[in-house]
Amino acid sequence: MTHNQAIGPSEAVTELHLHVVADYVEVSRLAADVVTRVVQDNPEAAITLPTGETPRGMYQELVRRIRESALDFSGVHFFSLDDYWGKGVDDETSLTAWLNEIFLRPANLDHDHVHVVPSLASDPVQEAAAYEQEIERRGGLKLAVVGLGPNGHVGFNEPGSTIDSRTRVVELTQQSQNQNAAYYDGEKRIPDKAMTMGIGTILDADLIVLIVSGTAKADILKATLEGPISADVPGSFLRTVGARLIAIVDKDAASNLS
Ligand code: GLP
Repeated sequence: MTHNQAIGPSEAVTELHLHVVADYVEVSRLAADVVTRVVQDNPEAAITLPTGETPRGMYQELVRRIRESALDFSGVHFFSLDDYWGKGVDDETSLTAWLNEIFLRPANLDHDHVHVVPSLASDPVQEAAAYEQEIERRGGLKLAVVGLGPNGHVGFNEPGSTIDSRTRVVELTQQSQNQNAAYYDGEKRIPDKAMTMGIGTILDADLIVLIVSGTAKADILKATLEGPISADVPGSFLRTVGARLIAIVDKDAASNLS
């Protein structure tokens, strides 16, 4: 792995870029820097960004830059990574509503530039395929920022997800349902299914950024970056893209890495 090199999709190395930074604030700032650079290089980029606790700081930083006119997001096409099956923007416990609140509205993204996974589809197979086609129509994903679930999931690609999986409905493990219920103080019931971009969809992105923070993720980060590349830990598939993967992790998350 390469350490502390300049960030960018054009690095002529074949191994992933691992950036171990001091803390969560640095993870957020560096992730925002990558997003900023991709958007500045390609103002009409199609990108996907994650939900969860980890990206909150990145979104805060991006919104600040957009408000200060240091970053122009108006041409970007945003594609959501995942949502609970049967929940959409009108449901306050949907991931789309969360994204709206945290980023899409404050960033003032044009409605036509926001594309959400078809979590309310009457024909999920057909609409998931149409979602993938829409990504293609926008030139493919220039950037996919993803977090890491406690069981190694990326998006909602749970263990067992294959490297070539595409956007689809998936079953959520009890662990993931519990993890997600915690976002709502455990008060809300989380559906047992979700619609998520597939591993293959994410791997097709020109650049993938994995953001991980905290000691609670140390074991699963080790399995993701140093364990076998396997469907048991879907995040491990990210390593197959080599230098197109930038992992930005804090010291706590990296504490078990060799
Ligand atoms: C959630 C989301 C993922 C997210 C992950 C980690 O279930 N579906 O996209 O990256 O779990 O969440 P957190 O950042 O809160 O640890």
